Amino acid sequence: MIPALRLAGVRFAYPDGQVALDGVDLEVAAGERVAVLGPNGAGKSTLVLHLNGILTPQAGTVEVGGAPVERATLAEVRRRVALVFQDPDDQLFMPTVADDVAFGPAHAGLRGPELEARVAAALEAVGLPGLGARAPHHLSLGQRRRAAVATVLALRPELLVLDEPTANLDPAARRELAEVLTALDLTTVVVTHDLPYALQLCPPGRAPRRRAGGGRRAHGRPVGRRGAAAGPPPGAPLRLRAPRARAGPRVTDASLR
Ligand SMILES: Nc1ncnc2c1ncn2[C@@H]1O[C@H](COP(=O)(O)OP(=O)(O)OP(=O)(O)O)[C@@H](O)[C@H]1O
Ligand SMILES: [Mg+2]
Repeated sequence: MIPALRLAGVRFAYPDGQVALDGVDLEVAAGERVAVLGPNGAGKSTLVLHLNGILTPQAGTVEVGGAPVERATLAEVRRRVALVFQDPDDQLFMPTVADDVAFGPAHAGLRGPELEARVAAALEAVGLPGLGARAPHHLSLGQRRRAAVATVLALRPELLVLDEPTANLDPAARRELAEVLTALDLTTVVVTHDLPYALQLCPPGRAPRRRAGGGRRAHGRPVGRRGAAAGPPPGAPLRLRAPRARAGPRVTDASLR
């Protein structure tokens, strides 16, 4: 079975020589919901930027649905992989929320009632029906973050990747976002240093909706407070070793050696 996402031996250093990723292996099966945990500076956001080719590895490979992420496949990879950045304002720039959600599908050629239905469905999926006419900057941070998720859901991606989705959210907004994400029938990678949230989104022992059978036990080594404190020193590159070809939601420690 071809994994939804596969990284093998990925290494990346920024132009100033800072090594952010060093030997990252990760495999995510279709239907899985996986949390990648790591302390500040571990390389999580750098990893995210490799998942749809914004950055390309200096060694190793990234494959999406079996296709290597490279210049020739970039358009297809970006159709399949949706990134939700930490700051929703990076994804909300139109006068209204509906315009923002319509932006991607309209660019892909959708028009008229089909486009309106796509926008309505995406807003419904994130629990913001009826807010399409609002200006994004009039929404709360929690609503803006869910609106940012809607902008990518409207493109019907195969893999949803969220970078620090709970940053600066209050408990109610965290819960609302968790309800949205767990209700989606979508392969999801959540990058965070929020262990409780990772465990909430990717609870041990729950199988993904789309797949029957397979492993049900969460694995990897989630870092608790002690583990996080014992994680890589600031500036140490992320080295991830996730077990391969699993079929259950899981939490993966980004500082595994
Ligand atoms: N544009 C850049 N140029 C040089 N170094 C960078 C750049 N962006 C990130 N880095 C460095 O790469 C390493 C990984 O950074 P990254 O932002 O991927 O970490 P992170 O795990 O997402 O951190 P955080 O939890 O704070 O978001 C860090 O040492 C960081 O200083
Ligand atoms: Mg980051």
